[in-house]
Amino acid sequence: MASNKRLLVLPGDGIGPEVMGEVRRVIDWFDRRRAVGFDIIEGLVGGVSYEAHGTPVTDEVVEQAMQSDAVLFGAVGGPRWDNLNFSVKPERGLLRLRKDMGLFANLRPAVVFDGLIDASSLKPELVRGLDILILRELTGGIYFGEPRGVEELGDGERRGVNTEVYTTSEVERVGRVAFELAEKRKGFVHSVEKANVMESGQMWREDMQALRDREFPGIPIHHMYADNAAMQLLRWPKQFDVLVTSNLFGDILSDVAAMLTGSLGMLPSASLGAPDVSGRRLALYEPVHGSAPDIAGQGKANPIAMVLSFAMALRYSFDLPEDAVLIETGVAKVLASGLRTDDIMQKGMTRVSTTAMGDALVEELDKLAA
Ligand code: IPM
Ligand code: MG
Repeated sequence: MASNKRLLVLPGDGIGPEVMGEVRRVIDWFDRRRAVGFDIIEGLVGGVSYEAHGTPVTDEVVEQAMQSDAVLFGAVGGPRWDNLNFSVKPERGLLRLRKDMGLFANLRPAVVFDGLIDASSLKPELVRGLDILILRELTGGIYFGEPRGVEELGDGERRGVNTEVYTTSEVERVGRVAFELAEKRKGFVHSVEKANVMESGQMWREDMQALRDREFPGIPIHHMYADNAAMQLLRWPKQFDVLVTSNLFGDILSDVAAMLTGSLGMLPSASLGAPDVSGRRLALYEPVHGSAPDIAGQGKANPIAMVLSFAMALRYSFDLPEDAVLIETGVAKVLASGLRTDDIMQKGMTRVSTTAMGDALVEELDKLAA
């Protein structure tokens, strides 16, 4: 029996607790059936943390996150907290975890399952077999740059400022992750910025090219402007494999990529820090979708993105790629059997609730492992 893995589970707000409930069943299944066990601590984040403690994440939870082998994060936010002061908004809890844990590399794969080809907003031939990876820089850029804020200029006039900032080392460390991922995938990288308008974008382009020339001469790099990349993702997504970009452009382009797959409810993500001397790296896994307050508590949420996020944890934090594949195969089979949550419902398919989707996944795991 291998030693137990420490998991911090942060369900958060909205549909977060519902989708996390289903992933807990998948984790229990692994606990029961396979030689890997998990020690799970559950904590508060987002609006629920604000209600309990007046802050969207407590120092204690941040500390627990630093001590765990992986964090599973649901979703944060909701209309109830929309008018809170900026510094205590639910989203700040997530941003603080990303920043304090140093999770600079955000992997957002967009994979189209055969069963969902018709749910994509693009024609089937454009998305069949699509498997691309958006790599978003997650702890720098305009999300964290200084100066920032809103200044009163008098007479009702105000000045709002945010700043895009990158250093060479920040560009290089996310660039290295991109090239290393490309080596295990199709072997080329698209780097995306606005080098035609932003000095920081021009620097990004030059530093990426220099890194590639110096450390990864065998990997072709293509530079693309962010507006063109948005257009190309819709025109011919299969031209991409690994797309590396800044925090803000990655936020936007990963939503575009999500839509290619037919549903935001399908997309997982991994946020990774730098490995320490022992090779251990802090990590947080979360679905790309948000807290969806409009459907929260109704059993309509799709738990698949959350479950696939756990599969990414098995792959990137626990070095259990076969177990990750087991979950991914289970998901593909359940979709092929025609079960659909509301967000991916199509004619002729069977509409199921969040928990019924979880039942089907666990049953499928049983069959696959038999
Ligand atoms: C995401 C989300 C977050 C972001 C929000 C919730 C702060 O949109 O993870 O893509 O903007 O990074
Ligand atoms: Mg986003």
